[in-house]
Amino acid sequence: MEEKKLKIAIVQFNPIRSEIEKNINKAFDIIDKFKGADVYLFPELFLSGYLFESIDEVKRLSLLQSDPFFERLYNFTKIKKIAIAGGYVENESGRFFNSAFLIGDGKFLLNYRKVHLFNDEKDFFTPSVSGFKVTEYKSIKFGMMICFDWLFPESARTLTLKGAQVILHPANLVLPYCQDAMITRAMENKVFIATANRVGIEKIKNKILKFTGKSQIVDPNGKRIVSFSANKESVKIIEINPELANNKMITTKNNVLLDRRPDQYIL
Ligand code: ACM
Repeated sequence: MEEKKLKIAIVQFNPIRSEIEKNINKAFDIIDKFKGADVYLFPELFLSGYLFESIDEVKRLSLLQSDPFFERLYNFTKIKKIAIAGGYVENESGRFFNSAFLIGDGKFLLNYRKVHLFNDEKDFFTPSVSGFKVTEYKSIKFGMMICFDWLFPESARTLTLKGAQVILHPANLVLPYCQDAMITRAMENKVFIATANRVGIEKIKNKILKFTGKSQIVDPNGKRIVSFSANKESVKIIEINPELANNKMITTKNNVLLDRRPDQYIL
């Protein structure tokens, strides 16, 4: 049987804070310039930026899943036969979620609401209770987690147990640990993990954040197969074989899922 290969584009991006229209136009321009990938992965909150002055600003930058805004993504992905993933502020009945979408070939394939909120995100966002999700696109199983979810091994493990071969990880990282931690997350689950981080600095009133770049893809053996600079916007398209994530053996006698001992753990 022919191997199913996937071309994934990681877009290390610096959004303009509070300018959804400019950010989506810039994203479409990037995709037009870097043709040839199946999936384009953008960072967390790439439509809105990361810092918010007030809850009113969060509301102004939020989108319902049914918002006509998404028609543009449906049309664009349908014409180009691609998928786009990235983060946005989701509004559901006046509650706001730090969410990420995977939209492919004109369809909303997956909506994920961040489970583990980081620091001041707790002032504006509601943590997800809808959990980690896996969906299929071009016969490949994708899971999604957002940024700080990396700190909790349960995130990648849950997605792996749900069948993910490739974990999409939009991020706005500010701590220096994640990129190295993902080597272990990918290896202990024998999955691909693609992190699209942002670069640049964001400032509001008395807050300033510097994002760490170094986007990457780690393969199921824990090998970084691509890695980006710490501070430049850039795009790289990498071909992977997601079927490598189907082999969960780490020695001839050890399977990373079947050898778990849930009866010995505290959850
Ligand atoms: C983060 O979760 N944006 C650090």
